[in-house]
Amino acid sequence: MKVRFEPIGEEIDCAPDESVLDAAFRQGYNLAYGCREGQCSACKCFLIEGEVALKPYSNFALSDSEESSGYSLMCRAMPEQDLVIELLHYDPDNYRLENPIRDGVSTVTAIEPLTDDISRVVLDAPGFSFTPGQFVDVHVDGAKRSFSMANADAGRIELIVKRYPGGRFSGKLDGQLKPGDEVGFTGPYGALRVRENARPILMIAAGTGIGPMLSLLRQLEATGCSRPVRVFFATRTPLCSEEIGGLKLADFSIQTFPDRSMLEAVDELLGAGELAEPDVYMCGPPPMLEAAEPMLIEKHKIDEQRIFQDKFTTAAEADPARTDSAGAAPTKRVPAAATPSGDEAERQFSWYIPQKRRPTLYEDVTIDTQPSVHRHLRRGWPVSFEDGRGTWDDASTTLRACDWFEFRDPGEQWERPYYQVGTAVEHQIEGAMRSALQEGLIEDFAPEWVEFLRHFLQVPAYVEHGLWFALATAGRDCLSDSVSTCVCLQAAMKQRSAQAIVLYAMDLEEHLDVGLPIETARDAFLEDEPWQPTRRLLERLAATADWGEVVIAANLAFEPVVATLIRRELGTRAAAANGDTVTPVLARVETQEWEWARAWTVALVRFLLDDTRFGEANRATISDWIRDWLPRSVEAALALTPLADEISTGIDANNATERVQAYAGQTLEEAGLPELCSLVGYEPAEAAVAAPSPATRRVRPPRERRATAGAGGAVAAAPPPPPADGEGTYDFVGIVMAKSAEGDAVARILSEREDIVVHEQPAFWDIRAKDRLVIPYDEVSEELGYEIDAYSIQHEMSTHYGRMVATDDALMLFSDPTEAMEHLMS
Ligand code: FES
Repeated sequence: MKVRFEPIGEEIDCAPDESVLDAAFRQGYNLAYGCREGQCSACKCFLIEGEVALKPYSNFALSDSEESSGYSLMCRAMPEQDLVIELLHYDPDNYRLENPIRDGVSTVTAIEPLTDDISRVVLDAPGFSFTPGQFVDVHVDGAKRSFSMANADAGRIELIVKRYPGGRFSGKLDGQLKPGDEVGFTGPYGALRVRENARPILMIAAGTGIGPMLSLLRQLEATGCSRPVRVFFATRTPLCSEEIGGLKLADFSIQTFPDRSMLEAVDELLGAGELAEPDVYMCGPPPMLEAAEPMLIEKHKIDEQRIFQDKFTTAAEADPARTDSAGAAPTKRVPAAATPSGDEAERQFSWYIPQKRRPTLYEDVTIDTQPSVHRHLRRGWPVSFEDGRGTWDDASTTLRACDWFEFRDPGEQWERPYYQVGTAVEHQIEGAMRSALQEGLIEDFAPEWVEFLRHFLQVPAYVEHGLWFALATAGRDCLSDSVSTCVCLQAAMKQRSAQAIVLYAMDLEEHLDVGLPIETARDAFLEDEPWQPTRRLLERLAATADWGEVVIAANLAFEPVVATLIRRELGTRAAAANGDTVTPVLARVETQEWEWARAWTVALVRFLLDDTRFGEANRATISDWIRDWLPRSVEAALALTPLADEISTGIDANNATERVQAYAGQTLEEAGLPELCSLVGYEPAEAAVAAPSPATRRVRPPRERRATAGAGGAVAAAPPPPPADGEGTYDFVGIVMAKSAEGDAVARILSEREDIVVHEQPAFWDIRAKDRLVIPYDEVSEELGYEIDAYSIQHEMSTHYGRMVATDDALMLFSDPTEAMEHLMS
């Protein structure tokens, strides 16, 4: 096919399976481009004649209305017939490539650390030539990384590389890549280059952005430049100072700054009129460049056409991917995409393990539903923090995972079940209050306990609110939707719980002879000595920046110890011993919600410890956090023990704190951290240390026996006993189904099983079993006469107890999160 470019009036050949941009590169055209993946719009053009097939692209780069009006993306467009294309951005003086783009193989000749986290890499690349300021794509493990050359001579490639732990290329600079190793590359790309004229030159660089500036400086030196050259360089540690200091330029100075005060110095220099009408060259993180632009253009009236820049993105896990949107010098550059790497694989349904497994409903609605810096925003964030971080990036936690999207919540919580459970929870609390009033149970409250409630009933609302505050903040930064769904829903549960406590106090107040003022609780939380360590912990939690640390500290230290002491020992045990049968309903609901959070936290920690690349580092990080937070949590729990003195029956403070410490130990053991159990004096079972992680075990429980009894109606029987308070776990599972066609069918099928109790309530079916409950779709479908699946059952379900797993054949509930996990992984 022929493609003619207008307005330059030149024609190229393009194969039907080749993008117009690639064909242009191949034939020596230097057209405007950025990401080369249909993400950034830098290559947008107008199709005057002809039809193209478009490879996948982002609507951000090309909207539907633009596409239907005739606009297209050259990096995505493959000709279906001869084309006439209008170039929207091109440099009329520089649209031919001086150096053809080619694939090559280079040899590493040197790797030299320059600072703690920056290295110089030198590659021998015979025959390779480029224009100083350009960049290459280095091939590594099937992916590509873009780096600007820091040298100016042909035949070699010198790169200044920031090392990121786990970075595809930079992660290999710690000894894996050695002199003599071969490295493939493609290039050169980019149109950053010295513009020949007599203007003074102002260079602004930050960090490894000095690389392409060094390349330009070396070229200026080689050509005997006599123009004034002023370099402003922001770097925390001295970098390339020898090379820069050794440059022989007639009128040259460089100033280094540890931070962005550099821009103030540039402002001052220009304000003093010391550098009239300069050409400006810049390279660094987008925020720095974006802050510099208005100052240069609006304040100092520098012609936008004289500003040449090379922006690079700083996705933490990836190497900094340089970009130069090339070709169109006067046009504003767009940060280009980092090539996907590691956990950045394209969506090819490969994250369902085993591949092609049918996703569960939970996976369908949860996984890959939120914009991900890895999967959707590969061009980087348009807006970043001042230090160059994107609005969401891997550096938000020290924890690392090859693929955060592989994590699954064993409880499979998502929005709808959350609201369904929430509704059931509210009914449960309301019902408990109603029957307490009808049956006169509130009169049974011991006077001493009423006094205790007067002071302390609402204090846990502050505790729950504190946890909400910390978790809600942490949820924002989580690195996959499966993790953030867990953290955000737990935060929502904490908020619900805080509000339920306040509402309960208001209800109770009406029926007790004493007031339960929130002010008293607030004063106690803010000032009473026993609550201060708890308050300090919560405040510290809210101020913790690393979301992974917040999750670990909250769910492996604070919750098992402090929150469990409040909820279980005070809210359940002490309450029941003092004639209060209502408050424990609230505490039990909170316990159920917490048990879900405990299960996914255990699964998350197991997942992180099992990570093939980062497991060891994760263990060290998590252990450090637990060593920090757990003793403080124990200290906070011990500080609460004087509260037990306020009530004479129902609680032995020492036993209570011992129990919660043992519970924390069990949780650590389950999470695969038995070595930390000694922090709470808990002895893990030896087997626990050696037990394979759930992720490696694939055991299915036996399928339920099909009952042969012909009873069609539901069986009304006493449900299995509720869990013993203080056990911390439940050994029964259950589902509450609406009295609908599906609910009735499920109830009928399950009522035929020996080990399942179906309890008929006026408005719903309460179905319970010990340890596990299996609802086979085929049997229910047969009963109904039409096909149902997990979705149909969940649609008619108002709540469930236990960890839910939906497979192709059945909806299952497990009391043991490990067993649920095994099914998820099998
Ligand atoms: S959209 Fe084509 S280069 Fe970015």
